[in-house]
This record gives sequence, structure tokens and C-alpha cells, in this order.
Amino acid sequence: MNRVASILGIKYPFVQGAMSWLTDAKFVAAVSNAGGLGILGPNAGQHTVTASADETAKRMRDQVKQVQQLTDKPFAVTLIVAASDTSIFTQKILDVVIEEHVPAVLLNSLGGVNSATYGVDPEIMATLKKHGIKTVVRSLQPSIADAQAVEAQGADVYVATGFDEGGTMPGGEIGSFAIMPMIADAVKIPVLLAGGIADARTVNAAFALGAEGVYVGSRLIPTVENPAAENVKQLIVDSTAEDLRLFRTTPDYYRSLPTKLRDELVANDNKLPLLEAKQTNGKLMGGTSGMRIGMLDGDLEHGYVSVGTGISMVHSIQPVQTVVEEMMQDYKTSAE
Ligand SMILES: Cc1cc2nc3c(=O)[nH]c(=O)nc-3n(C[C@H](O)[C@H](O)[C@H](O)COP(=O)(O)O)c2cc1C
Repeated sequence: MNRVASILGIKYPFVQGAMSWLTDAKFVAAVSNAGGLGILGPNAGQHTVTASADETAKRMRDQVKQVQQLTDKPFAVTLIVAASDTSIFTQKILDVVIEEHVPAVLLNSLGGVNSATYGVDPEIMATLKKHGIKTVVRSLQPSIADAQAVEAQGADVYVATGFDEGGTMPGGEIGSFAIMPMIADAVKIPVLLAGGIADARTVNAAFALGAEGVYVGSRLIPTVENPAAENVKQLIVDSTAEDLRLFRTTPDYYRSLPTKLRDELVANDNKLPLLEAKQTNGKLMGGTSGMRIGMLDGDLEHGYVSVGTGISMVHSIQPVQTVVEEMMQDYKTSAE
């Protein structure tokens, strides 16, 4: 049996990417009901930010309880972790995960090429293992040493993210095609490929490159159940990778479909010195607020629309289950 499906207790080794603002209980349950692993991402089900850790945890608990009403299948919650000294926000969400018996977590760590940021907070990992909670680790910047550190800590699954992805892109600039075999050759735990996986062909390619499953973000935004604004779903369907522009920001890169803010971010990258461009753009994007304004509210003037280069393969807004079945059609045949 496929190791990812067996470890996570799911039908298909298909894991939905954690996406800030763009997940909620309905969407996550739809992925899990379709046979994949749905993940509640940062700000799941929200339209506002809160500076309170208690309120953040309460909101996540509400979402977890809603997912549990909509599916009896496994799902996960995102924990943003550092190599040590994890924030109070994460500690409180971890309490929710344990108390509500969430079966798996996505550990979103820094990774990188500097040993100070390899791996995940050992205390968090020990607590998760003590409670039998499965761990999928996705580092913002995957690397051989980070994957090996995470494996040594006892993680269940590692995600190799290529430069083709949507969201906060890895500063390492290694494409999906190159990073997948590099990481698969470096560790024994199963590895998922993230970045540009958007149809059955790209799923098959991921497996050919050594992946034991796929980690999919952008393709799942233009679905019936995703909370993104309808105009944004349609914009993604109507666009190809040629419509995306890359720009420098904090921590490294983003890319976006056309919006007024996107044009300003690209212009800053072109005219300002590197460090100034990164700082100015980071401020203009307001963390992930620009994502909420652009993608959740559908404001194509003041926000941005961050997606990966796989969008060229997306031709219609479909129910999550149809997307998962279509993408996994060859895997299904070969597994039978
Ligand atoms: C709009 C958007 C928001 C994202 N937000 C997050 C996030 O908050 N945390 C995270 O770990 N990854 C985030 N990601 C990255 C995804 O989890 C995943 O790695 C990526 O979508 C995979 O590449 P793909 O978009 O080409 O499928 C985001 C991606 C997108 C498209």
C-alpha cells in the first residue's frame, strides 16, 4: 500500500495545501470526504485578524468542530513552528489539536540552508508523538539538511516544495522538477511534492520523480467549496502561467495575477535596491492581509492573487471531489 495513504489513513495520497485565509471547515471536509487529507490553514474560516492568541485558538476550535460534523475522515490543522521557542499562538492551537483529537498536523517550519533553522521545535514534536498525532512537515525553504533533520526528529512525511508553487515561495529557487528527486534521495520517510501539481499528468510526474504523494494548493482554489471570491476563481480559470508576475518581497518571492497592487509590487522590485524593495513590498502586502483582500474579498485593486504556475491546467470551477478524482485517475488505476 502507498505509505502516505497508510500513515495518514486516507484513500489517496493527496494532501491539500495549507493556504492562509483560503480554507474553512466546508472546504477541508470536502477534501477529506473526497479521499485526500484536508488541512485547516492559518486564519481558516475567518475574514478578520485578531491579535489575541486565545481568540485565535477559539476560532480554530470552532472550525475543527465544524469539520468533525462534516466528515468522519482524517484531517489536519496547521501549526506554524520554528526550530525552537514556538509562539504562544501555536502552543494554544496545539492544545486545541490535542483536546479535540485532531489526527494529524501540518508543521509549517522555516527550514532553510542555515542549521539554526533546520527541523521543528523538539518540544512540539515530542508532544505530538506522545499523543500519536501524525506529522506532515512543510518547510518554507526545503533543503536536504532540513529534510534529514526533520526525519531524525521522527516526522512522518516531508513536503518538498518547488519554486512553481503559489503562496510564499522558497528563496532556494529550485523548481519542482529538480527538488523532488533531490529530497527523495536524501531521506527514507515518504516525500510529497508541492508546486505546480494541477492535473493527472503532473501527479504522474511527481510519482515518477520519487514522490509518494502530492501536496496541492492553487488547483483547489477554483473549486465550488473553496472560500475564495467568485471573481478570483474565474480569474484563475481564465489565466495561464503567462499572466503571473514574480516580485521580491519578505521573506523572498511572491507571484500574482494582475491587480493594481501587483503592478505596484512589481514596479518596486524593478526600481528599488533589493533590500528596500523587499521591505517596501513586505509592508505593502501587509503580511497576508493583501491575500485576504485580493483572494477572499475579491478586491483586485488593493489585494493580490497568489497562485502557482500550474494554473494553466485549470479550465473550470469544479467540486473538490471531481478535481481529486480527475487528478488521481491514473494513480487509482495503478493502485488497483
Ligand atoms: C493563496 C495561497 C496561500 C498559501 N498560504 C500558505 C500558508 O499560509 N502556509 C503554508 O504553509 N503554505 C501556504 N501556501 C502554500 C501551499 O500550502 C502549497 O505549498 C502550495 O499551494 C503548493 O503549490 P501549488 O499552489 O502550485 O499547488 C499558500 C498557497 C497559496 C496558493
